[in-house]
Amino acid sequence: MNKTLVNDFKEIVTGRRSIRSYDPNVKISKEEMTEILTEASLAPSSVNLQPWRFVVIDSKEGKETLAPLARFNQRQVETSSAVIAVFADMKSDLYLDEIYNKAVEEGHMPAAVRDQQVPAIKGFFEAMTFEQTKEMNLIDAGLVSMQLMLVARAHGYDTNPIGGFEKDQIAEAFDLDKNRYYPVMLLSIGKAADAGYKSVRLPIDAIAEWK
Ligand SMILES: Cc1cc2nc3c(=O)[nH]c(=O)nc-3n(C[C@H](O)[C@H](O)[C@H](O)COP(=O)(O)O)c2cc1C
Repeated sequence: MNKTLVNDFKEIVTGRRSIRSYDPNVKISKEEMTEILTEASLAPSSVNLQPWRFVVIDSKEGKETLAPLARFNQRQVETSSAVIAVFADMKSDLYLDEIYNKAVEEGHMPAAVRDQQVPAIKGFFEAMTFEQTKEMNLIDAGLVSMQLMLVARAHGYDTNPIGGFEKDQIAEAFDLDKNRYYPVMLLSIGKAADAGYKSVRLPIDAIAEWK
């Protein structure tokens, strides 16, 4: 197993860069990828519905399917250990009962709270337009994606978030219902083969204000 655990949060955050070239010989086991996804999924989400879904593309066939859809991001597809396609499940409310029942069973939530919240959330979802649900799901999927990138670094890997791909084709290419699974981004992950590029950030006084 290829497992390097980094515990220095500052190093994880300040050392993260988009890495577009990886050691192609490094594989991430299903066991370790499951651990990475489990830790990433601790991200918060609206009413805890966890609308993120992942397709881990790490096989030769999967990469061959992905490559024609990945536009100018071929090197990441070719050299990474995996490319994780992140989708938002537009029917995440189907898991509402399961999530809230489990919270009660595990003693995290009183049954009375579940019985009050679940119908309220169902009503809220029924009243939402597709665009409103999409906006909510994209926020949640962005949070899990960022958490995944940091968790990857804690495991000794680097990533590149990728928006340059054929969003209208990705679900069907991986046998998902495109009306249900809305594409968010691709995340390449693997052992960095170079240091990437440093990038600048706007100064805080341009992006924040105190009132
Ligand atoms: C949603 C999103 C989409 C991106 N799409 C691409 C992409 O298609 N190809 C690519 O090489 N980098 C892509 N990037 C990476 C950005 O270029 C990069 O994050 C930015 O320049 C800052 O550099 P850093 O990640 O090294 O800090 C994307 C980043 C985000 C957040």
